[in-house]
Amino acid sequence: MRVLILGVNGFIGNALTRRILTTTPWEVYGLDVASDRIEEFLPERRFRFLEGDIGINKEWIEYHVKKADVVLPLVAIATPAAYVKSPLAVFELDFEENLRIVKMAAKYGKRIVFPSTSEVYGMCPDKEFEEDASPLVYGPIRKERWIYSCSKQLLDRVIWAMGHAHGLRFTLFRPFNWYGPHLDNVEAPKEGSSRVLTQFLHNILYGVPIKLVDGGDQRRCFTFIEDGIDGLMTILKNENGAAEGQIFNLGNAAADLSIKELATRLIDAVGQYPGYDSVASRAEVVTVTSTDYYGEGYQDITTRVPSIEKARRLLGWEPTTDFDSGLKQTLDFYLLTRNPPAV
Ligand code: UGA
Repeated sequence: MRVLILGVNGFIGNALTRRILTTTPWEVYGLDVASDRIEEFLPERRFRFLEGDIGINKEWIEYHVKKADVVLPLVAIATPAAYVKSPLAVFELDFEENLRIVKMAAKYGKRIVFPSTSEVYGMCPDKEFEEDASPLVYGPIRKERWIYSCSKQLLDRVIWAMGHAHGLRFTLFRPFNWYGPHLDNVEAPKEGSSRVLTQFLHNILYGVPIKLVDGGDQRRCFTFIEDGIDGLMTILKNENGAAEGQIFNLGNAAADLSIKELATRLIDAVGQYPGYDSVASRAEVVTVTSTDYYGEGYQDITTRVPSIEKARRLLGWEPTTDFDSGLKQTLDFYLLTRNPPAV
């Protein structure tokens, strides 16, 4: 099988590439603006990479869509601070550029596996979010945060319509706060430039107070990347067409933590690493308002729990990594490869 991954150097893209190249005979065509996470694959014969931009390298993309059996457009802005600060950039990249790829897949009759998002459910009141039943609930337009989930939702609907009315072969998957090695760059100093786990890790390592937005009672289900990749591989293999025309939540309901608990668990875990006990013991946790942290355009999601009944039934998938062991693998990656900070 030939798999085209746009955004191959990203958090999901690089982990998926590793899994494909190490466990299958498939070929991967990859495009990304950077290559730091996929360098080890560059000499591999079954991996073709172009360093480039989804909005510029249009001919390369079209040529490889034609050659591929399945297309995964993983290029997107996926950090909430950017939804508030640069809503139009989110719309242009996450919606417009991706729509072009979806249309191209349809034009050439290619299967598309598209990353929807847990954010699509928004402030859904359901205890567990169901792909085919839960309402998708957003705030007012002045709350720019929702432009990401709106863009993703509309693409979900476009893909669904193309599939059901025009025969586009598709699967949508919804990651629920996937984390693991290569999530974000913890050395990046800019607040809001990464997702919560790597943001907190950065704060601990650099002696910056951890900021709990609005007190940190909001909850997320943290899903280890390799569990997510297991689900994605099952979708790609698509045995007996089980994933055809379906939407799947890929999330770990057993790792449902408040952001406050996440901070405590992370500080404790970092303190277990040789040389990191003093930064961990000095870690400070403060509360900030969401307006101060993100700006007026932010609105939060208080609970976000996936139902994985459908993924279990149709794909035989469920997460197997508990939070402690996923966190350990993540911290091994981030901490064992760097020198402990001097305090
Ligand atoms: C994320 C992003 O939108 C996407 O990466 C993705 O689609 C989705 O979740 C997902 O992975 O399922 P969110 O969970 O809100 O959304 O993003 P984070 O930045 O990881 O924040 C999680 C929570 O931690 C939020 O409630 C946020 O307010 C809080 N937070 C974040 C803090 O309390 N302090 C911080 O310094 C950063």
